[in-house]
Amino acid sequence: MPDLIQVSKDKTFALTNRFFSYVFRVSPEGILEHLHYGGPLSDPLNVSVHHIRTQREVASTFQGGKFFSLSDTPQEFPSFGTSDYRFPALHGRNSDGNTVFSLHYKRHKISKTKKPLKDLPSTRGGNCETLVVTLEDPLHKLDVELHYTIYQDFGVLVRSAKFKNKSDTEIQLQHAFSTALDLPPAEYEILHFHGTWSREFNEERIEVPKGRFVVDSARGTSSAAHSPFVAIMQKGASEAVGRVYATTLVYSGNFSINVEKGEFEDVRILAGINPFNFHWRLKPGKKFCTPEALHVFTEDGLRGMSHIWHDFIREKISPPQFKYKPRPTYLNTWEAAYFDVNEDKVLALADKAKHVGVDMLVLDDGWFEGRKDDTSSLGDWVADKERFPNGIPWLASKVKAKGLKFGIWFEPEMVNPRSMLFEKHPDWILHVPGRKPSLGRNQLTLDLSREEVTDYIFEKVDAILSCGDIDYVKWDMNRNMTEVGSAGLARNRQREVSHRYMIGLYRLLKKLTAKYPDVLFENCASGGNRFDLGMLSFMPQTWTSDMCDPVGRLDIVNGASYLFPLDVTAAYVGPSPNHQNGRVSSIQTRFMAGVFCAARGMSLNEQDLADNHEELKELMAFAKRTAPDMVGGRFDRLIKSDNEVCWQYTTRDQKTVYVAYFHILAAPNLPFRRARLVGLDGGAEYVLQEDKAKYQGDSLMNNGLPLPYVTTGHVKENVRYMAKGDFSSYLFEFTKK
Ligand code: DGJ
Repeated sequence: MPDLIQVSKDKTFALTNRFFSYVFRVSPEGILEHLHYGGPLSDPLNVSVHHIRTQREVASTFQGGKFFSLSDTPQEFPSFGTSDYRFPALHGRNSDGNTVFSLHYKRHKISKTKKPLKDLPSTRGGNCETLVVTLEDPLHKLDVELHYTIYQDFGVLVRSAKFKNKSDTEIQLQHAFSTALDLPPAEYEILHFHGTWSREFNEERIEVPKGRFVVDSARGTSSAAHSPFVAIMQKGASEAVGRVYATTLVYSGNFSINVEKGEFEDVRILAGINPFNFHWRLKPGKKFCTPEALHVFTEDGLRGMSHIWHDFIREKISPPQFKYKPRPTYLNTWEAAYFDVNEDKVLALADKAKHVGVDMLVLDDGWFEGRKDDTSSLGDWVADKERFPNGIPWLASKVKAKGLKFGIWFEPEMVNPRSMLFEKHPDWILHVPGRKPSLGRNQLTLDLSREEVTDYIFEKVDAILSCGDIDYVKWDMNRNMTEVGSAGLARNRQREVSHRYMIGLYRLLKKLTAKYPDVLFENCASGGNRFDLGMLSFMPQTWTSDMCDPVGRLDIVNGASYLFPLDVTAAYVGPSPNHQNGRVSSIQTRFMAGVFCAARGMSLNEQDLADNHEELKELMAFAKRTAPDMVGGRFDRLIKSDNEVCWQYTTRDQKTVYVAYFHILAAPNLPFRRARLVGLDGGAEYVLQEDKAKYQGDSLMNNGLPLPYVTTGHVKENVRYMAKGDFSSYLFEFTKK
């Protein structure tokens, strides 16, 4: 393997692979000056310095030097108070109240590996090199290690920072970002995702404004309100072309991604723990590690960006034992029965599930002691004696005896005030003295910063899983945090609680998933309220949204696909009329909105199952047959407008190509539409399975695939057409010859 990291004698550092070069140097003043992030360079150590040292009127000059101001110098880890007025990556104070930090190069080290972070999830190493540059503030005696990992085969740069207090007094960290990236002046746009319950992953594209644009969370979860993701794009970048710089975090708690256009039009990206309401007291000799931030650069537009993320998440984030592993189809009890579940009902649903060819029965909420609605019992993780008198292990074995897998729902981080657990341990919740805790869905958040709490949760979940018949766990989390305080921490450490909660959660997940490596964990937080790379490090799939209406779901799947491979998503056919928005739609379209998600299934009651038996049987047979295809392939967004969506999915071996087309509202006299497919073998022939029609790869890519016509009239020629009316969908399946 050629060296991915080079260093010159005068301390220019260059990280280069076939996707990008990332270059910075130690400036004559000793600070880390950023030089280049973009396409790969053949001689990266000799890249020219962007920044012109010249006199600027009114600019403050760094340490009295004549032509050097930090306010327009691209830097690797900026701080505040020494001539840079932009938002800093590092800010805090030492014990005598001094808030001015100044970091200078101390030493560096290169290794051919990557070490995992101690308390936080991190990307896996392998075919990579890591550069650690240590900076120091000689006055405060604070060392900051900047970690950079570059991989041979991925277009992702991994960064994190580690702070070490070398002084003999406490240092308080307030801004402890994971990464800072200063881009040169240009016309840029921002792409980011916002949303709420059942409307996750709405895309917004705006010009980078002057000033500061922030997506963040103070909710205790990464949240659906603003996903921890920002792409800065060359103005006008499209799916196919354009420079894109994208950033996300391997973190599931309060984050912040800042985009700041400074007075000289340079653009600074900071990503990491949200500095709002954060304060970490770093005792002498102690270290603090930030979560990892990941950067992607590409010139190949948003599609190129997504391919890089997808490959990387599959290889370096998701639990490896589930890589390329087909996911079972399932029937989930939630929208079939809500809280009204009992042994007989579950066994009857299992029979029906088996009948339509589903692989797994998942018992969702409602199975534990006293849980008849959402007002009680979270925390009391033993089966309800009346409704499940024989217990969960018995039920699991009964379901398995029918030839199905068995899965179960937990919401382990929560407690209801009406529960045995809360009665026994009222101080185990996040709370602050003197304030009545706010409720979310009638529940309180357990204080996972306390080890006795995570031990309790482990014990309860373990007691169920240890029966050996549980194949799947849906790990839910249904409220945002409020009154974030801990009885387990000193008064002057209360602003550490949110981050310590995450450390506790990750410790718990690590222990559980290590003990049960073959149990398929599905991440859920009222759908996608905690859909991030932190959770995906432990759980191979996520319940993307409670929105199962196909029209609502299309936007969500499309939005999520910019960052996430569909290998990590789950979808099911829900009832019609839909329970969230009342829309009536066909079973076919309900299935199709999630057709390219790795995990597929249904949540239908016995009546729905009986009424739609034949269609469901066909759909589940298709889902089962194509389950191996839906992991590891390439997903491409071809068309996305308010009325049309067209996606392409190419299997990992590139032998099968699926195209899904959705037409939302019908109208007369519509144009004849085509989709130009991407990434095919131009010289190969592709056979459409439904009628064995043959298409040349280059024709599908250049001339395009004629899309089915939406008409209420008669079709005279041999044209493919969609089901009449609103919300129709069509699936093409091509086999490469
Ligand atoms: C929220 C989840 O998103 C739903 O799928 C379901 O599991 C409920 N919680 C159960 O309370």
